[in-house]
Amino acid sequence: MFRKLIIATGNKGKYREFCEIIRDVAGENFADEIIFAPEISRMIVDETGKTYAENSMLKARAWAERSGLPCLADDSGLEVDALNGAPGLYSARVIQGGDSDKVSWLLGQLEGVENRRARFAAALCLCVPEKFTLITESYCPGKIIDSPRGYDGFGYDPVFLPNGYYLTFAELPGHVKNKISHRTNAFKKLNAHIKTDSL
Ligand code: IMP
Repeated sequence: MFRKLIIATGNKGKYREFCEIIRDVAGENFADEIIFAPEISRMIVDETGKTYAENSMLKARAWAERSGLPCLADDSGLEVDALNGAPGLYSARVIQGGDSDKVSWLLGQLEGVENRRARFAAALCLCVPEKFTLITESYCPGKIIDSPRGYDGFGYDPVFLPNGYYLTFAELPGHVKNKISHRTNAFKKLNAHIKTDSL
């Protein structure tokens, strides 16, 4: 479908995750070449949007303007029911420090709280210069457990138990997470739109 497609991220792990999602959901023909462009990733795009959708669009459009190529960007976060949807848009910057600090912050907030329901949310934006900008959003519902389990993944993965599973996102093999994740669900919607709307 696309000759070249840039994944708008400086994070090699996220790039690999997207390559797998695109291949699984849309097949090899979605793009002849999926590009990781660390040189563009040095360009800082301020995530000033008030929604995941806005932030994903700011990133995709900036990268597409810079490269002249189709660009796929995402923005995502963890929404916890008992915290009224926090940390949400601020999941990456809710406190300073690394992933384990953020996990400790979250468990601290939920100490003694019975309602553990949460969901990961993701918006994806595909910007094809001179043609269209398409945004989709989706979720992966689950709950927050009491203490971290597992070593794979990143962010809040060790405390997130997706609905219907007994293993956390950090315990599940990557290919299983990629079948049910918020980013996968959002990409499925994106792919369906591209198929139905003619390019
Ligand atoms: P961003 O979309 O790269 O800005 O990520 C937002 C933040 O949400 C990440 O830094 C993580 O803290 C959290 N997050 C988003 N998706 C995931 C996931 O799949 N697993 C764990 N944490 C995630």
